[in-house]
Amino acid sequence: MDKQEVKDLKYFIETWGCQMNEEDSEKLSGMLKNIGYSRTETKDDANIIIFNTCCVRENAENKVFGNLGELKHLKKKNPDLIIAICGCMMQQQGMADKVLEKFPYVNIIFGTHNAYKFPEYLNRVQTEGVQVKEVFNKETKIVEGIPIDRKSDVKAFVTIMHGCNNFCTYCIVPYVRGRERSRKSEDIIAEIKELVAQGYKEITLLGQNVNSYGKGLDEDIDFAKLLRKVNEIEGLERVRFMSSHPKDLTKDVIMAIKECDKLCEQIHLPVQSGSDRILKIMNRHYTRQDYLDLIDLIKKEIPDVGITTDIIVGFPGETEEDFQDTLDLVKKVGYDSAFTFIYSRRNHTPADKMENQVPDDVKHDRFDRLVKIVNESVIRNNKVYEGKTVEVLVEGLSKNDETKYTGRTRNGRLVNFTAENVKAGDLVNVKIVRAQPFSLIGLVE
Ligand code: SAH
Ligand code: SF4
Ligand code: F3S
Repeated sequence: MDKQEVKDLKYFIETWGCQMNEEDSEKLSGMLKNIGYSRTETKDDANIIIFNTCCVRENAENKVFGNLGELKHLKKKNPDLIIAICGCMMQQQGMADKVLEKFPYVNIIFGTHNAYKFPEYLNRVQTEGVQVKEVFNKETKIVEGIPIDRKSDVKAFVTIMHGCNNFCTYCIVPYVRGRERSRKSEDIIAEIKELVAQGYKEITLLGQNVNSYGKGLDEDIDFAKLLRKVNEIEGLERVRFMSSHPKDLTKDVIMAIKECDKLCEQIHLPVQSGSDRILKIMNRHYTRQDYLDLIDLIKKEIPDVGITTDIIVGFPGETEEDFQDTLDLVKKVGYDSAFTFIYSRRNHTPADKMENQVPDDVKHDRFDRLVKIVNESVIRNNKVYEGKTVEVLVEGLSKNDETKYTGRTRNGRLVNFTAENVKAGDLVNVKIVRAQPFSLIGLVE
């Protein structure tokens, strides 16, 4: 292929799910750009379409099926179009075959453990004209050095560990992402230093349970120690991390946030339920009181900390009383933001086999009531910022209003503001003039 031809090749990638998938997609992009492809935001002019899928809830899966159906006419128009499906959903037993049966025009299927092999699969399809279906059941060794084409020039995700060992009874993630494996700290630090050299200002350390980072590694390290090492990297401005499992969040980590200037005052601490009975059946290994004590400690040690969470309503057997315990906990903590989910049955998980499933109408009713209580605390917490000045890392112009810039405070609040002579990557002091329900409006004086 001559250069001109390569230059015109485009890929479209759509990503569902969490930051793990986002980062995997950035790697797929990086590998494709390395072999001469450029990204397009429309499917119509793409030579390759990639769907990076999620299966944490049923609606995530339904979206993928819907989107796959729509590709049929594109493939008819352009038989050379290559369609690749990957991600967590493909790791489920029998799913790859199900997809191929329903959508025989798919060219490549691969899973979360072998995404690094994508260029090889692409080459096979292009040179041999075969269909590739390769999903590894077991995790492989961590593959380092894959090129990453990141979405932002200011903030970057850095995965510090893969997989999960917790097996919360509702959750499919351990089945599709495999067992917990930590990256060596030197690889993580080298990646962050490289990002800083490229101009990145903020990094978010990623893992399903970052607090168990370091287990199984041949070095004297744990998550708190890693945080302190990262804090020493010159030129880096901000460090965040997610997710923290409440059972593993140590005082060491809390003190690291308190003492290290680059560690932002923000903790995402998924509670899932406020009922001891439900927490137990969920296999979460903490009680409501353990959680509330942890929140007290965090608030005491880290002034102005932003606390966010994940909550599930309608877990099997959840009674109105259990649900009231969740509402009560939400009021007590006063979250700054919360991702709320309706329990979704996932194949092969223990909760799916439980007999006392909660009816849909009850789940929806609880969900609406929960969202109302969560929003009250989010709005109340935002109001406090009216008249205050906060440090914001500028991310660029706001998508919804191009007369304003957008960025976040150290504790994670979204701020849209007017300013002159600022650019993405700057740290600016913004005076908050108005609190909107889910963002702050301000100006640089
Ligand atoms: N590892 C992270 C989150 C993983 S998935 C953690 O433990 O914090 C993100 C969120 O999806 C979970 O926190 C949970 O609230 C939600 N979730 C997972 N499985 C679910 C299911 N079957 N139904 C509804 N929500 C679910
Ligand atoms: Fe799922 Fe629990 Fe692991 Fe989070 S900790 S990924 S909720 S099993
Ligand atoms: Fe979904 Fe996989 Fe993340 S199931 S939530 S994309 S780990």
